[in-house]
Amino acid sequence: MADSTSKKSFLRVFDGEAVSPPPIWMMRQAGRYLPEYRAIRANIPSFLEFCYSPDAASEVTLQPLRRYNFDAAIVFADILVIPDALGQEVAFKEGEGPVLEPIRTLEEMSILDVDRVEEALTPVYETLKILSREIPETTSLIGFAGAPWTVALYMVEGRGKTEGERARDWAYSAPQEFHKLIDILVEATSRYLIQQVKAGAEVLQLFDSWAGALSVEQFRELVIEPNRRIVEKVRAACPGTPIIGFPRNGGVLIPEFVEKTGVDGVSLDHSVPLDWAVDNISDNCVLQGNLDNRLLVVGGDAMNRGIDTILEQTKSRPFAFNLGHGIVPQTPPEHVGQAMDRIRGLSS
Ligand code: CP3
Repeated sequence: MADSTSKKSFLRVFDGEAVSPPPIWMMRQAGRYLPEYRAIRANIPSFLEFCYSPDAASEVTLQPLRRYNFDAAIVFADILVIPDALGQEVAFKEGEGPVLEPIRTLEEMSILDVDRVEEALTPVYETLKILSREIPETTSLIGFAGAPWTVALYMVEGRGKTEGERARDWAYSAPQEFHKLIDILVEATSRYLIQQVKAGAEVLQLFDSWAGALSVEQFRELVIEPNRRIVEKVRAACPGTPIIGFPRNGGVLIPEFVEKTGVDGVSLDHSVPLDWAVDNISDNCVLQGNLDNRLLVVGGDAMNRGIDTILEQTKSRPFAFNLGHGIVPQTPPEHVGQAMDRIRGLSS
């Protein structure tokens, strides 16, 4: 008979258990800091094509697991596959990041076709199916999508490296128009996540990386409400699949985000004091985070102190260790291994 410890440690925290040491995974754990990732990337000119190649995408998802024995694997894909699947032109340019044909009017929005999304993203479900067979049995499989506001920001701005000024202005000046875009994204994202669960994803994360760019009013309208609707739709179709929110830089509004969206877990950026989070975020919600990704670049004592503080502050709570934001390309791979050993108590 299965006892509680035979269950994957990342899933146990969602049953309310304060697992010690906590399960560990890291945002962007697959990526350019790994030479074996760069070797595969060099052979595929288009980043989106890479995301749609199940063999290559599953291979790079597995790479960090071979090195570090993470407790969870996040499927290799990107949040901008949704605008691509909706019919918007999306490209990733070397040294520049994403470039999209911007959508700034109702007429431009009319090209988006929500009915294409589920089928267009079949390669991602294929990647998940391969991974469900190939990951170690103690490892959980995470599916993900961008949350509507963050994806809309890229769709409207047409590129990264902005604070979403045009998108925010549009949402203030013509809320009905902007809400049409959000509604399309709520529907597309919900359908996509449900298919990911059917293909083997055991946990889902919704990335709202630009949540912190918004005013209080817009945060409620464009972050909380759309995340809430997605949680409701996905939960109705996939009861029992934990959903993690990531309202990055949401600050004091994070407890309200958790309360109103009903997420099962919340990923915290590095600006959130964890003792405050423990006191102010509902006990039913798993906390995840929040090591500064710069500490993985720096390593050594500073990194160790950061890790020890997090472990101390979260020991009474169901908690999953992670970063406050993704691993950056300059990170020395050996620092990731040293961090894992520190978290697991395997080094002094
Ligand atoms: O390991 C994982 O975390 C899974 C894969 C993953 C990627 N992107 C791969 C990727 C995930 C979860 C994402 C999420 C993502 N993508 C977010 C939300 C999280 C965050 O970081 O805030 C956002 C905003 C994007 C959009 C995006 N994708 C940008 C702005 C860029 C360019 C910047 C960059 O780092 O190059 C990407 C490209 C991207 N997505 C890469 C990877 C590994 C690098 C592209 C390459 O290898 O050439």
